[in-house]
Amino acid sequence: MGKKKKTEAKVLSQAILAEGIYDLWLETDLAMDAHPGQFVGVYPTNKSTLLPRPISICEVDRDRSAIRLVYRVVGSGTAEFALYQPGDYMMILGVLGNGFPLTEAAGKKVVVMGGGIGGPPLLQTAKELSGKGDVTAASVTAVMGYRNQETFLADDFRKYSELVIATEDGSVGTKGNVIDAMRQQNVECDVIMACGPMPMLRAIKAYAQEKGIKAYISLEERMACGVGACLGCVCKTKEVDHHSYVHNTRICTDGPVFDAEEVEI
Ligand SMILES: Cc1cc2nc3c(=O)[nH]c(=O)nc-3n(C[C@H](O)[C@H](O)[C@H](O)COP(=O)(O)OP(=O)(O)OC[C@H]3O[C@@H](n4cnc5c(N)ncnc54)[C@H](O)[C@@H]3O)c2cc1C
Ligand code: FES
Repeated sequence: MGKKKKTEAKVLSQAILAEGIYDLWLETDLAMDAHPGQFVGVYPTNKSTLLPRPISICEVDRDRSAIRLVYRVVGSGTAEFALYQPGDYMMILGVLGNGFPLTEAAGKKVVVMGGGIGGPPLLQTAKELSGKGDVTAASVTAVMGYRNQETFLADDFRKYSELVIATEDGSVGTKGNVIDAMRQQNVECDVIMACGPMPMLRAIKAYAQEKGIKAYISLEERMACGVGACLGCVCKTKEVDHHSYVHNTRICTDGPVFDAEEVEI
C-alpha cells in the first residue's frame, strides 16, 4: 500500500443518489493506491471544522485516475461537500486504513454486507472480487440493508454480484435486517465482509460464530485526527498471537477492517 499524502483532488461530478446521499467522483492519483475498504480524509474549508472527515472509497476508476465517494450529509463538513461542483478542488488525505483482506476471499463464496451508509466501501470490494481485481472469489452476493425503498447503489451492486435487499419497512426485498435476509433467502457463504452500524456488526459477528464462518467488519466509528495521533477511536482487541491478552487498537490506523473475532464490540 502506498504512502499517505495530502493532495488536491478535482471534482469530476456530483449527483444526488437518494435524500441526503451524495455521489462524488474525484480525480486524484490516490486512485492508483486505493484498496477496497480504505478511506480518505476530506478537509472542509471552513476553518472552524479543521479535521478531515473520513469517507470510504466506494469505487475506483484507474483509467480516469478517479475515486468515487458516496456520503450522507449529517453535519457541517458533509453539508459543505455537497456544495462542490465539477471543476472545483477539494483537499483530501489518503489513502487511509487497511481495507478488506481480499486474499482471504480467493476462490470462496463471499457475502458483502452493508447497512445504510455502510454500503459504499463494499461496492469496490464486490467489483474486485467478481473478477475485476487481482483476487477472484468463487461467488459474490451483496446483502444490503436500507430503511426504505431508497435503495441507493443497488444497480451498481447488481453489476458485480447477486443482490439481496432487506428494508426496515418491507418496501423492497425482505422486511427486516440483513441477517433476516440471509436466513430467509438461504444465502450460504464462507466469508462475510461487512460495514454498517454497530448493532448490525454485532449481529453479523454472532451469525458468523453460529455458522462457523469468517467475518471481516469495518468499524466506521467516530474519528478525529484519522492518523493515529489523538486516540479518539480506540477499540478493545484480542491479539491473534496471545489469546489471553486484551489491548486497545486505533481503528483509524490499525483498521477500520478487523476480523470480527479479534475485536470486542
Ligand atoms: C473509516 C470511516 C469511513 C466512513 N465512510 C463513510 C462513507 O463512505 N460515507 C458516509 O456518509 N460516511 C462515512 N463515514 C462517516 C463520516 O465520516 C461522518 O458522517 C462525517 O465525518 C461527519 O462529518 P460532518 O462534519 O458532516 O458531521 P459532524 O457531526 O459535524 O462532525 C463533527 C466531527 O465528528 C466526526 N464524525 C461525526 N460523525 C462521524 C461518524 N459517523 N464517523 C466518524 N466520524 C464522525 C467528524 O469527522 C468530525 O470530526 C465514515 C467514517 C469512518 C470512520
Ligand atoms: S482518530 Fe485519532 S487516533 Fe484514531
